[in-house]
Amino acid sequence: MSGPVTREDGAHEVFADLPPSPAVWCSGLHKRYKRRTAVDGVSFTVERGEVLGLLGPNGAGKTSVIKMLLGLVRADAGEVLLLGRRAADPNARARVGYLPELFRYQPWLSAAEVLALHVRLAGATVPEQERRDCLALVGLADRAGDRVGGFSKGMQQRLGLAVALVARPELVILDEPTSALDPLGRADVRDLLLSLKARGVAVLLNSHLIGEVERVCDRVVILDKGRVAASGTLPELLGQRELRLRLDAVGPEAEARLAAAGRLTRSGEGYAVALPAELDDAVVPDLVADLVRLGVRVHAVEPGRISLEERLLDILRTGPGAGGIRSEERSDEAGLRRLPGGLSERSERSQLSPGEEQR
Ligand SMILES: Nc1ncnc2c1ncn2[C@@H]1O[C@H](COP(=O)(O)OP(=O)(O)OP(=O)(O)O)[C@@H](O)[C@H]1O
Ligand SMILES: [Mg+2]
Repeated sequence: MSGPVTREDGAHEVFADLPPSPAVWCSGLHKRYKRRTAVDGVSFTVERGEVLGLLGPNGAGKTSVIKMLLGLVRADAGEVLLLGRRAADPNARARVGYLPELFRYQPWLSAAEVLALHVRLAGATVPEQERRDCLALVGLADRAGDRVGGFSKGMQQRLGLAVALVARPELVILDEPTSALDPLGRADVRDLLLSLKARGVAVLLNSHLIGEVERVCDRVVILDKGRVAASGTLPELLGQRELRLRLDAVGPEAEARLAAAGRLTRSGEGYAVALPAELDDAVVPDLVADLVRLGVRVHAVEPGRISLEERLLDILRTGPGAGGIRSEERSDEAGLRRLPGGLSERSERSQLSPGEEQR
C-alpha cells in the first residue's frame, strides 16, 4: 500500500537514519540558593541503555542537578533535553521513572493503590498483573494490599523503586535507591539495574555506595562543589593499574628502577607501583628481570587495579580548585577529564608517595 510521498514521510526517513537522541542531555546547568552556589556549570549526557553513576560528597549538588533535569527545581541557567525533548514536555516526562531522595507516599493507600495512582499520573495503561509483577520485582509481592503507613523504611524505598519502574520508562533516575536497603535488597537492585540496561533503558544512578556504582555503571560523573570534577567510563577512570611486589634486598639502584616504572609506594617489604593505563606487555617482565639482575629477591608480583573508591578520594582530595578540569573546558566528550594531579603526571615524575623518601 503506497500512497503519494508526503513531506512528513521524507522527514521521517531522514530522522529514522539518525541515532536516537541521548536519554539525558544537559548543558551549563547553574543553580544558586540565595547566596550559595549549589550547581556551577554542569554538563553531561546519558546515552540510551547506559547506566551513568552520579557521585560526589554530601552537598556536591547531585540532587539539585537531578531536580533540574526533571524540572522540579528551576535552573538559573542551562539547558536540558530528556529523551530528545524539552524537559517540561509531558511526553518526555511520562517516559521517565524517578525515585526521589526523600519521599513519603500517602500512608492510607495500599502498595497496589500507590502503583495504580502513579500509573494514572503517568498517563500510562499498565494491566494489574504487570503492576503486581512490578511489586514482586522489588520483593513486595505479599504486601500489595498492606497500607504504606505501616511499611518499614526499606519497604518504602522498595515501593519507591516499583513506582519508578511501573510505567515502563525509557529513562530511570534514581536518587540513592539503596540507602535503606538490606544487603539482599541491594543485590536485587543491582540485578534490576542490569536487567533494565539489557532492555535498553537508560539509568541515572546517584549513590554513595561506590562498590554498587562500580559494579553496574558504564560511566561515572563525579561532582564536587557543584562542578564536574571528573567523568569517564570506568576503564578510563580506573585506567591506572597497580603492581604489588614483595621484595627484599632492594638496593638504591633497584629502588630507582622501581620508581622509574611508575609512582612508587612502600610499606615494609611490600612495594606498589602505579603503572600507566596503556601498559606495554613487556613492562612487567622487564621490570622483574632488571630487579633480579640488580640482586633483588622477588617473593611475589601481583597485578591489581585501583578501586573506584580510591580514585574518587584521589579526585576529591586533589580538588577542582587544584587544577581539576571543568566540564566546559573538556575537549573530548567521551574521554576522561583527567586531573593534572592524577596518575599520568605522577608517573612521569616517578615520585614516591608523601612520607616516602627516595633513597
Ligand atoms: N532547597 C534548598 N534551599 C537552600 N539550599 C539548598 C536547597 N537544596 C539544596 N541546597 C544546597 O545546595 C547544595 C547542594 O545540595 P544537594 O542536595 O544538591 O547535594 P547532594 O550532592 O545531593 O548531597 P547529598 O549527598 O547529601 O544528598 C547544598 O549546599 C545544599 O545546602
Ligand atoms: Mg542528594
